[in-house]
This record gives sequence, C-alpha cells and structure tokens, in this order.
Amino acid sequence: MTAEIISGTEIRKAILAEVKEEVDQMKEKHGKVPGLVTILVGSSPASISYVTLKVKTAISLGFHEIQDDQPEDISEEDLLALIDKYNNDPDIHGILVQLPLPKHIDDKKILVAINPDKDVDAFHPVNVGRLMIGGEEAIFHPCTPAGIQEMIVRSGTETSGAEVVVVGRSNIVGKPIAMMMAQKGVGANATVTIVHTRTKDLAAHCKRADILIVAAGVPGLVKPEWIKPGSTVIDVGVNRIGMNEKTGKAILSGDVDFNAAKEIAGKITPVPGGVGPMTIAMLMKNTLKSAQYALK
Ligand code: GUN
Repeated sequence: MTAEIISGTEIRKAILAEVKEEVDQMKEKHGKVPGLVTILVGSSPASISYVTLKVKTAISLGFHEIQDDQPEDISEEDLLALIDKYNNDPDIHGILVQLPLPKHIDDKKILVAINPDKDVDAFHPVNVGRLMIGGEEAIFHPCTPAGIQEMIVRSGTETSGAEVVVVGRSNIVGKPIAMMMAQKGVGANATVTIVHTRTKDLAAHCKRADILIVAAGVPGLVKPEWIKPGSTVIDVGVNRIGMNEKTGKAILSGDVDFNAAKEIAGKITPVPGGVGPMTIAMLMKNTLKSAQYALK
C-alpha cells in the first residue's frame, strides 16, 4: 500500500493560522504583538531569500517586524552593539541573526550575545542546555527539529515507546531531535538511537525504526529495503541533484529514495514540501511564545 504523505505545506498552513489567531487575541487583550528582528549581514542570495520569506511571513501574521540589513564589512563590535540594542528593546521578542556570517565575524560570539529569552532559533548554549533538561525549562526548541516533531504528532504517529532512529548528528537537527524524542511528554517518550558516518551497520538500525528521521545530507542514502513496513519516515535532506533547464530551478532530492520508500512506509514526508516549509512556521511559533512569556 502506498504511504500517507505528510505534507509540510499543509501543516505549515494550519500552524500559521493558529499563530495568527493567537496574535489577534494578544493584540485585543494586551494591545501588543510579537516583535521579531531579522539581522542579515551581507548579500548572499540564499540568505536574502530565506530572510525575505521570514519577514513576509512575520508581517502576514501581524507581527512587529524589523528587517535590519547590515553591510558585509560590519565589524564584530558593531554587530554585538546591534544585538545589545535589540536585547534591550521591549517590543522585540525574537532576534534572528541569519547564518552563515562573513568570515571575519565569530558566529559563536554573536550567538551567545543574544538574550537566551529572545533566542528564537534556540542556538544559544543556554537554550541547548534547557532542551537537554526538558519540560518547562525548554522555552524554545530549534525550528527544524520542532517542525519534525510537529509533523510526527499531527500525522497521528505514536511516539510513546516507539523505536526512533535518527540518521545524522548535527547540532541543528540530529542531536536536538534525538533529545526531544527521548524526553517525557507529548510526541516524545521514544527509545532513540543516533546513527552516523561511523556507525557499523546503518541498515540494521534503520530496519528497526518505527520512526526514521534522516538528516544526513546524502541523496538516496537510505535504501528502500532499510525501511520497516508501515513506519513513519521523515526526510530532512534537501539536496540539489541537478537543474531543470526549462525553469532554471534546482531539482531537489531528499536523503531517502522517496518513490520506492513510499511503497513500504506507512507515512512519509516528501522533498520538497515536507520538513522544509515547517522551519519558518516554527520560528513564528517561537516568537509568539517569547512574546507570551514576556507578557506573563
Ligand atoms: N541559515 C540557514 N538556516 C538558518 C536558521 O534556521 N537560522 C539562522 N539564524 N540562520 C540560518
């Protein structure tokens, strides 16, 4: 039987509608809206397109949005001063510094300068620690893992006691999603294994997975025969495998052979249209959450 497709595009729509409703309520009750600043240094086309989408989405939800573009040659000192300004701005609840930064700037130094309570990317070590502790401590979850967990929950996949196998151990996806799935709570309580480039028998681990989360950045890494029949497969890979000559757009492929895998899995995310669209929705949710905390 063909797997149910978990559409990130559809789930994003639902989440954004929920966020918009809460923003409207906040405005009515408190006369305030969530405030997000996006800081873009330089003019990398990819970064510009990501930031533009974040800004447009924030505005569409009624957020107070500041797009603070800075020249490529801004000094580290000036960038730190800018962050300090927004750390102390009560109308700003989320500060996002688009990565990567130019080479002369130490991104670790920049990320730790952001007030952890405004760190809607959840990249600050304090938020990484809070995620590890779990429960009420974890105010923000990083956006891509949060999107993955939301897709698992909204697709009706049982996580309690499930075998979750995470392929990849990055700081942005693999490590945090593994920790989140192992925590106590909704969409969690799973038994988690992280596999990576040094794992001896990747296939054997994947075959056990009730929920297989693949974030390796290797097109077609997971073979169809590694997928447990009826399992939920979340493909985080976004790999450019060519160019459509007619449209001039990149042809994208995930880390899983989607066409073959959908005949075995119970539920599966497509690429594109799967995890990708979820990230910005979760950024908006984090910013809303931050504003709600500030009003408490
Ligand atoms: N660059 C690519 N993805 C991201 C992201 O999620 N957050 C930030 N700050 N920069 C990025």
